[in-house]
Amino acid sequence: MSRIVLGVSGGVAAYKAALLLRAFTEAGHDVRVVPTPGALHFVGAATFEALSGNPVTTDVWSDVPEVAHVRIGQTADLVVVAPATADLLARAAAGRADDLLTATLLTAHCPVVFVPAMHTEMWLHPATQDNVATLRRRGAVVLPPAVGRLTGPDSGPGRLPEPADIAALADVVLTSGAAVLAHDLAGRRVVISAGGTREPLDPVRYLGNRSSGKQGWALARVAAARGAEVVLVAANVELPAPFGVRVVPVGTAEELRSAMHAEAADADVVVMSAAVADFRPASVAGAKMKKDSAGEPDSVPLVRNPDILAELVTKRRPGQLVVGFAAETGDDDADVLTHARAKLARKGCDLLVVNDVSGGQVFGRADNAVAVLAADGASTEIGLGTKDTVAAGIWDVVAPRLEPATQA
Ligand SMILES: Cc1cc2nc3c(=O)[nH]c(=O)nc-3n(C[C@H](O)[C@H](O)[C@H](O)COP(=O)(O)O)c2cc1C
Repeated sequence: MSRIVLGVSGGVAAYKAALLLRAFTEAGHDVRVVPTPGALHFVGAATFEALSGNPVTTDVWSDVPEVAHVRIGQTADLVVVAPATADLLARAAAGRADDLLTATLLTAHCPVVFVPAMHTEMWLHPATQDNVATLRRRGAVVLPPAVGRLTGPDSGPGRLPEPADIAALADVVLTSGAAVLAHDLAGRRVVISAGGTREPLDPVRYLGNRSSGKQGWALARVAAARGAEVVLVAANVELPAPFGVRVVPVGTAEELRSAMHAEAADADVVVMSAAVADFRPASVAGAKMKKDSAGEPDSVPLVRNPDILAELVTKRRPGQLVVGFAAETGDDDADVLTHARAKLARKGCDLLVVNDVSGGQVFGRADNAVAVLAADGASTEIGLGTKDTVAAGIWDVVAPRLEPATQA
């Protein structure tokens, strides 16, 4: 259990702070909500008090013997400000302490995550961008806002990311510290495939696999949090788009192949985490294949699908890193890592992320453990953690390998 301070400032997205609070308490954390006076115009203190089980105050003049303006920050393991208004970012960057939340930000020794939400004009204004840069330079995490529907009919960057996304990233910061979401992928273009392809047999049936897309989603979420421009080519994944990420939905291996080639052309990093069917039915029946009670079932002739990872390696542009994924099981011939090294050599990619899927581990689960093998012989073990923690570990391996020439 960790002690989390949830700062809430006065934006219309304050109602989503209640859902984030719920996610934190359900994960077993002790949460102290510190709203600005403006936030209480949107959500009442009673909601935050009832959901957190802790008192809610906005100013430094309540609970004076407790010296709350100092103690709340000093004793926190993590501060998350969601939503963070333009005004709150400005006051935090200026080091003001004119309410309990800003005073808490000045006394916190722990990691601090700001989750901005505002109209696009406010977000893109140079004043706000300077304040964000100042806060990042001081070591805070400032997540990029999601792109989508804002208050009223407007749409654009400025939307609060989904509370589940914020909670997942807060968990990574709690586990590994704020540096894990350093802005080290700013200016990079990242293309990630995720999910599992479906190869149709007839209009209602397909050959598929058990990939949930969750690891690819986590890679996209963490890359976006670290400043990358992210495109997610998603094969049959029902999850909501991570904030700031453009999702290109695909179904079959052939569709995934076309989308990856189109998107990878100007990417700095290409990650093939989707599970692509090796084979597809040689032909697709135009009408539903009927059950014939008298006869045996028909056999289904298969043909090979193209090797998309190998193709992407061949077309790799100078400086581009290609990262493959391998779900391996050990057998009588060799262990998982030996099979994976052989695959890395065969495919020619720069890095291979290896999942040991013996005994049905990984698929659809919330946690994962991988090894990242490099073509230069290096190997990094990333121990059991949430898929977001594993994603952060993978980006830790990738980021230093990017050519400095294109670094932002
Ligand atoms: C209906 C309404 C919605 C608002 N939404 C936002 C918002 O999403 N983001 C933002 O930065 N400011 C928003 N504001 C403006 C802030 O409330 C205002 O700047 C206030 O001073 C913020 O104070 P605080 O940061 O101390 O909470 C909104 C104001 C109103 C009246």
